[in-house]
Amino acid sequence: MTHQPAITGHVFIAASLDGYIARTDGDIEWLIPYSEMGEDHGYRAFSDSIDGIVMGRGSFEKALTFSTWFYDRPVIVMSRSLKDIPGPLASKVTIASQSPEAVMQDLAAQGMRRVYVDGGKIIQSFLRARLIADMIVTHVPVLLGSGIPLFGEQEADIALRHVGTTSFPSGLVQSKYEIAN
Ligand SMILES: NC(=O)c1ccc[n+]([C@@H]2O[C@H](COP(=O)([O-])OP(=O)(O)OC[C@H]3O[C@@H](n4cnc5c(N)ncnc54)[C@H](OP(=O)(O)O)[C@@H]3O)[C@@H](O)[C@H]2O)c1
Repeated sequence: MTHQPAITGHVFIAASLDGYIARTDGDIEWLIPYSEMGEDHGYRAFSDSIDGIVMGRGSFEKALTFSTWFYDRPVIVMSRSLKDIPGPLASKVTIASQSPEAVMQDLAAQGMRRVYVDGGKIIQSFLRARLIADMIVTHVPVLLGSGIPLFGEQEADIALRHVGTTSFPSGLVQSKYEIAN
């Protein structure tokens, strides 16, 4: 068996204070003003540090509604239902239907080391598989009351180590955690 260097998953995501990443219908308009106000929340530095992005079909479908394609790294969409990637994106996006472990092994074999993991269900699945090394979660000062949750049920506790927290004039509060076990 050939040895492959470690590959790690990394989360960079915004959530309402009550833990939702989108409204139930996928709406993220409540989030957009914060990304347009010129405050540096570290997204560019984070994206420069990763080799590729694994996202769920839900997040991919949302990204398709934006006027421009947002990502400058290879994107892997995890889906068991999606069959084709729309023409212009075919060179930038691939579909993966395997388990999180198998997807990460494939990406490691391609030379990737740091992978951005995005989408609520996908993050939960990668956390369960212990494939996430750290998470930067930016809390937005709003209570949505319902929506698509960032976190969900797990079989066992996942211990975290708090690395640091920054608060911004806009009211955003960003915390970094490493997965401790
Ligand atoms: N606030 C933020 O910063 C932020 C960031 C990212 C996304 N979002 C929002 O979050 C929403 C999407 O999140 P989401 O939680 O609904 O979906 P998601 O995690 O993006 O995608 C979930 C889908 O991925 C597929 N999948 C394949 N393998 C899977 C696995 N092992 N575990 C789980 N899913 C797997 C399934 O689709 P198939 O049925 O095709 O298999 C599943 O329905 C969108 O509205 C997006 O705008 C917000």
